[in-house]
Amino acid sequence: MGQQGDDGSAEAFLRDFAQLSTIGATPRGGVDREAATVRDGMARAWLGGWLASRGFAMRTDAVGNQFGLLDLVPGAPYVLAGSHLDSQPTAGRLDGAYGVVAAAFAAHRVATGVAAGTTRATRNLAVVNWFNEEGSRFGPSMMGSAVFTGRLGLDEALATTDPAGVSVRAALDAIDGRGEQGPLPVAAYAEIHIEQGRELEETGDRIGVVTGTWAARKFRFRVLGEQSHTGSTRMVDRRDALLGASLLVVEARSLADRFADGPLHTAVSQLDVRPNSPVVVASEVRANLDLRSPDPAVLDAAVERVRAVAARVEAEHGVRVELELTHSWDRQDYQDDCVAVSERVCAELGLAARRMLTVAGHDSTNMKDVVPTAMLFVPSREGISHNEREDTAPEDLVAGVDVLTGVVRELVSAPGTPAAWTSPSLG
Ligand code: GLV
Ligand code: MN
Ligand code: MN
Repeated sequence: MGQQGDDGSAEAFLRDFAQLSTIGATPRGGVDREAATVRDGMARAWLGGWLASRGFAMRTDAVGNQFGLLDLVPGAPYVLAGSHLDSQPTAGRLDGAYGVVAAAFAAHRVATGVAAGTTRATRNLAVVNWFNEEGSRFGPSMMGSAVFTGRLGLDEALATTDPAGVSVRAALDAIDGRGEQGPLPVAAYAEIHIEQGRELEETGDRIGVVTGTWAARKFRFRVLGEQSHTGSTRMVDRRDALLGASLLVVEARSLADRFADGPLHTAVSQLDVRPNSPVVVASEVRANLDLRSPDPAVLDAAVERVRAVAARVEAEHGVRVELELTHSWDRQDYQDDCVAVSERVCAELGLAARRMLTVAGHDSTNMKDVVPTAMLFVPSREGISHNEREDTAPEDLVAGVDVLTGVVRELVSAPGTPAAWTSPSLG
């Protein structure tokens, strides 16, 4: 961890981020820190130590969101900046964690400016590590920010179980990850993240200023067949759940090709085959289906087509297909004034900025629905993400911290009486 009172320099950022990346490190240079695991708990403790040693008051709410609060103007609402420390299994080290450490540095730098009298604060400052953004262990993704913004009920989130039957409540309690947080007034939110795509690398722009989200529809599906002998059962007598699921996997891919101009991105990425035994035709398959497009009409048409194919698979293969929509968000814009602030800061720093949409979901996807939200990207090498090889050039990481610092500074010193949205009490 950096020394108390260090200057928040670029070198300090790279050093401290490298230190965080040793927690849950995997042999191929990534991390494995799924939500509320012991390794996630260690990363949370690291962040708590970093912020507390720089004067932030640490709070955790009832769904495990971790806040570092710095009161600059008594009674004023907070400018919140952050992302998530949890990861997918065998993930890259940057997805989420970069944004949290960048926010910690940005807030610390702005606070140093306020203390030195070079920045005049009209709002308070807070850093946040949202609980369970990834949704890999406990669905849905973006869970902590969904509860914070009132989109998902606290009790529903806490009762969610992982594949081993462990609840969010029990997993968080095991890492001492749940606390109490009264209503928090928030004036604005800012987040920086790796792009997870190739657009910035291809155009040579240094910073992505996110103006909106692609829309997403995530389904859980179950294919129900009949367990039988893979050798002796006549082919006409089979009701093969794995065959039914496979047809949907292939359909998801061909759908994306059919709407290539849409564009449409699709995947089935998880299969749970039962009983999953060599000489047994599967009786049941549980799987997920993820569909995304910037064009709501394309997404609606794709969902309709999936339903039609599911009905055909049922009729032709004697199985039952159940489709359940588990998570969705629409094509929506971020606030224009936040885009303008981000572009102004990039211009001041001499960094080429590019307006773009985010394909991936982020906690800012929830936060922009309640407060003005700035969302920034730094380039991802070869667009690789959710992979241990995820990478960004150090000079791009450092430039991103500078931009986030400028954005947080502008938001914290904005003139006028701050309008605020107040979070529900979580605890
Ligand atoms: C994030 O949760 C995503 O699904 O992109
Ligand atoms: Mn992320
Ligand atoms: Mn991710």
